Amino acid sequence: MSRFKSAINCTDSAASFLKDISWEDDYCERINPELMTRLMHQCVPVLKASEWQITVVENGYAETILPLNQATTNQHGTHQAALISLSADYTGGMAVTSLLRGVPLAGIHKCSTEDSASLWLVSMNVRYKAPSTGHLIGRCRIPDRERELIVSRYKQGNRVLVTLPMEFESNGQIVAEAELTYFAQPAKQLLEPGKKSSTLFNQKIKASARMIAGVRARASFSSNGRNYRVDPSHAQLAAGPQGEMLAEKLNRALPQLVQMVEARTRHGDQMLRSVRGLRQVVLAGAGLDMRPFQLQHDFPDVIFYEVDLPEMIAERTRVAQMLPGFDQSKRVMIAADFLEGNFNDKLLGNGFVPSLPTAIIFEGCSMYFESAVNKCLLKSFGEMMENPESRLWVDFVSESVINGETVIPEVQAFFRRMDEMGESFIFGANNAEEFVNDCELAMVSETTVREFLAQEGTYSDDPVLDQYSFTVSRCR
Ligand SMILES: C[S@@+](CC[C@H](N)C(=O)[O-])C[C@H]1O[C@@H](n2cnc3c(N)ncnc32)[C@H](O)[C@@H]1O
Repeated sequence: MSRFKSAINCTDSAASFLKDISWEDDYCERINPELMTRLMHQCVPVLKASEWQITVVENGYAETILPLNQATTNQHGTHQAALISLSADYTGGMAVTSLLRGVPLAGIHKCSTEDSASLWLVSMNVRYKAPSTGHLIGRCRIPDRERELIVSRYKQGNRVLVTLPMEFESNGQIVAEAELTYFAQPAKQLLEPGKKSSTLFNQKIKASARMIAGVRARASFSSNGRNYRVDPSHAQLAAGPQGEMLAEKLNRALPQLVQMVEARTRHGDQMLRSVRGLRQVVLAGAGLDMRPFQLQHDFPDVIFYEVDLPEMIAERTRVAQMLPGFDQSKRVMIAADFLEGNFNDKLLGNGFVPSLPTAIIFEGCSMYFESAVNKCLLKSFGEMMENPESRLWVDFVSESVINGETVIPEVQAFFRRMDEMGESFIFGANNAEEFVNDCELAMVSETTVREFLAQEGTYSDDPVLDQYSFTVSRCR
């Protein structure tokens, strides 16, 4: 989603990408060893399990300790060598981070794509010289020349590719030496439109779509006294292990997540079934929504237009190839960037007919876009709904949780996790009807998750379920 946001805001190329903050303040607020150790433990649980710690952070220097304990050693070289490599990665990463003055690190600090740094290990060469028989001290001191290179290139928003030396000491003896190559760049520079699609961006959008598929794969719900799953096999396949892992992480922060995503899927499906004479379905921001596969038998004459960024369309193609036996002729995949403002042209150029009864689903997307961007998109969807039976389905988070007026601890924990993924929620609507009217559409229905579950016979007084609603609208 961030590609969209960054494209409309990415205008400050002359500005420095480093912040004007003193070393002392930066140390205190962003990179001191206690804080960084805690954040790293949260994000990389194996570091916590091994009791790995950052002990010293200076400008261009980091020292860490991997204690000799039950979790970190046995008699096998591979086990110990692997942990030394793990320690090496984060020791060098910490040293690089110390130079990126004031910049939050994507995946570690609370941040958005607009202000964060992407830092990746590209390669590592470790020479193991002796067994480590005590606590392992890792040190990375970045040489002056490389320091200057990192700071000057990052400041201008350029890619940094730098190889750093590192050494590991145990009981006063050097037990390993390493060279690690890192890649660093302001996250938003990686997503600038018009630039060749970056590997990092590619990974990132796949991660968020897989996460949602992972949530669907976990979904198991109770209705009318029956417990059942909604076709978890497709969602599981789409999610893969990464999606399932991310889903678990986010569901731990917000235990209602599965129930909410499940409800939205069912509500969206109900809307599809309610469109008389349905002939076309548009999945705008399709991600890894498996509806075209799951609903093919129910809607044999319906064409599914699956619109998303080219990187996601490539991923959908990969997943679709694992699902043989489906009639692919009823699916039209369209690579489009909402940002380019040619959504309708792309649809029309691929055989879409606005006068046919159509359902457009914009699911799990509005919360990532600025209000103005959502408005443009909803208006253009409206232009494609000439048939009086056509309907648009959109989900909205309430504005008061986005702007912090309503404080619900588990929702905040969820937002924090999304921030860490670089997928911050930035938009909400307290009055969805007004918003939809402003987009030249007419609201047909608005239902909070709590109301929807109650309609199905599941009653709850959980306030979290009031913060998320599903809307159906039509052309005016
Ligand atoms: C959170 S996912 C939701 C996917 C799907 N609707 C679902 O519910 O499973 C958001 C989707 O929007 C897509 N997206 C983000 N920015 C976009 C853009 N500028 N143009 C088109 N699609 C975009 C992403 O690639 C991703 O697949």
